[in-house]
Amino acid sequence: MPDLNLSPPLAILLELTHRCPLRCAYCSNPLALTPASRELSTSDWCAVLDQAADLGVLQVHFSGGEPMARADLPKLITHATRVGLYSNLITSGVLLDEARLALLVEAGLSHIQLSFQGLEETVAETLSGFKGGVTKKQAALAKIKAAGLALTLNFVVTRQNADELNAMLRYAAEQDIARVEVANTQYYGWGLQNRAGLMPSEAQLERMNLLVAEWREQLKGRMVIDYVMPDYYAHRPKACMGGWARRFLNVMPDGVLLPCHAAQTLTHLDFPQFPASTLTAAWFESPAFAAYRGTDWMPAPCSSCEDKEKDWGGCRCQALALAGDAGTLDPVCSRSPQHQRVTMLARRESQLGDVALQLRRFSFRDEEAPRTEVTPRQ
Ligand code: FES
Repeated sequence: MPDLNLSPPLAILLELTHRCPLRCAYCSNPLALTPASRELSTSDWCAVLDQAADLGVLQVHFSGGEPMARADLPKLITHATRVGLYSNLITSGVLLDEARLALLVEAGLSHIQLSFQGLEETVAETLSGFKGGVTKKQAALAKIKAAGLALTLNFVVTRQNADELNAMLRYAAEQDIARVEVANTQYYGWGLQNRAGLMPSEAQLERMNLLVAEWREQLKGRMVIDYVMPDYYAHRPKACMGGWARRFLNVMPDGVLLPCHAAQTLTHLDFPQFPASTLTAAWFESPAFAAYRGTDWMPAPCSSCEDKEKDWGGCRCQALALAGDAGTLDPVCSRSPQHQRVTMLARRESQLGDVALQLRRFSFRDEEAPRTEVTPRQ
């Protein structure tokens, strides 16, 4: 039965493709990546956008992989504009040239989120497996600014580049960026696989906290800094995705519909797939979407916690990954019996020094594997 009190999602995130020229060790994509041959077609994605608009969604985030690996991206943005959606492109920027940017602007793109793995080429290459990425990203930034597009810079932080944070924020200030996201890696997919090699130390975290506070003060009114903490060191869980199936709907490259990017690790749930399911049916009627929505599912002490409608019980994928049960307390919460173990684990892993990172790679058979140069596909 559809829940008539339920609001539609605020935003949809379209993972157009898992193909990407970068091979980031912290990538939150699943370990089993979707081959190009199983990606939705241009007309499928346009139908997804139509359904999103009909459902009452306001924003669409084009993500991946690298969404610019799809040659039809301008068409999809044009369609999003036509149906009245605010569009955001989440990109590494390394495929962005003037001609492509002009097409995106003409298509009506509203905003770009450009990610950096720091400013030191060697460190960024260690994290992304991509040579010369910083230079390419800086060139992309100049072009985006010249085009006058709204922009957020996203600095992904791990223990390899945490000590560069001051330089990163100084760079953003010099570039007169209005919004910056300092995002400590969250441990899903490849990030979870490489956690021991990525986890920052508590000392690094303390320095980051101070730096963010200082820069916020210094740039008040000029630059907004969003700061995502590494939640293994937290005492209260984050409101993951604003609560399970409350605000976001994710569409995977093959059309699987999810409440969050990592939900497919919850293999006991049967997630709907477009086009067999509409977005409306997934949102209002799917038992998988309803499974951890709201507060009725919560175990004690979450069910009587004063923050239950702030954090919505934290992250279900993290509860599964760390405690083996998606329906139990998020172990980063200090009220979880697993909390001490998680904090100790983070401390121990952060002291491991140089751990070889397993860079993201496609694990399916060669004949299905996308070409590593990232050939655009419709
Ligand atoms: Fe799935 Fe947090 S990533 S609920």
